[in-house]
Amino acid sequence: MTSKQPMTAEKARDLFPCFPVALVTAGDNVASFGLMHVFSFKPPIIGIGVRRTRYTYEMIEKNKDFGINLPGKDLVEAVNICGRKSGRDVDKFQLAGLTRMAPSEINSVLVEECPMNIECKLHRKIEMPEASHDWLLGEIVTAHKNEGAVPEDALLYWNQMYRLIGDAVGKRE
Ligand SMILES: Cc1cc2nc3c(=O)[nH]c(=O)nc-3n(C[C@H](O)[C@H](O)[C@H](O)COP(=O)(O)O)c2cc1C
Repeated sequence: MTSKQPMTAEKARDLFPCFPVALVTAGDNVASFGLMHVFSFKPPIIGIGVRRTRYTYEMIEKNKDFGINLPGKDLVEAVNICGRKSGRDVDKFQLAGLTRMAPSEINSVLVEECPMNIECKLHRKIEMPEASHDWLLGEIVTAHKNEGAVPEDALLYWNQMYRLIGDAVGKRE
């Protein structure tokens, strides 16, 4: 029998491999987010886990919307920059060499360099004062994608490393 090693509860979260990493835009600001999931297919809802101290949190509450911009592998450095500095202190678009793109249906700007951009209107806030992050859920109202771009181009993040998706090994039946 294979022997199982015990792990701390805190370390166990690293057993989940790879979330997509997004440049989340809120108002005029951009920041990197790895805690993210699809919460509903119909209506289409995506949730992001946001620490209450983030400027992004404040901006989403103010604008009632946010953009999920999915970067490709060429934007690793921009993701690092947008995940290190706060929009309270600097213009991260300028610092990371990113371009503001006009949204169609929300107030928050989008990131031109990301091949996929999803516009969300704030649907619900799940406040969890006992936990590190609150969950902000957004209903997708429209999206844009570069010609030829595919979801497989999107950057993933896990355990301090950025990655691309690996092999397909079976089909759901
Ligand atoms: C790869 C990566 C993933 C991150 N994921 C999250 C996340 O899911 N939730 C969060 O609150 N902060 C996350 N951060 C940290 C924020 O991006 C960082 O604190 C940023 O400076 C916040 O900017 P703001 O104050 O302009 O909102 C992540 C950073 C990196 C580099």
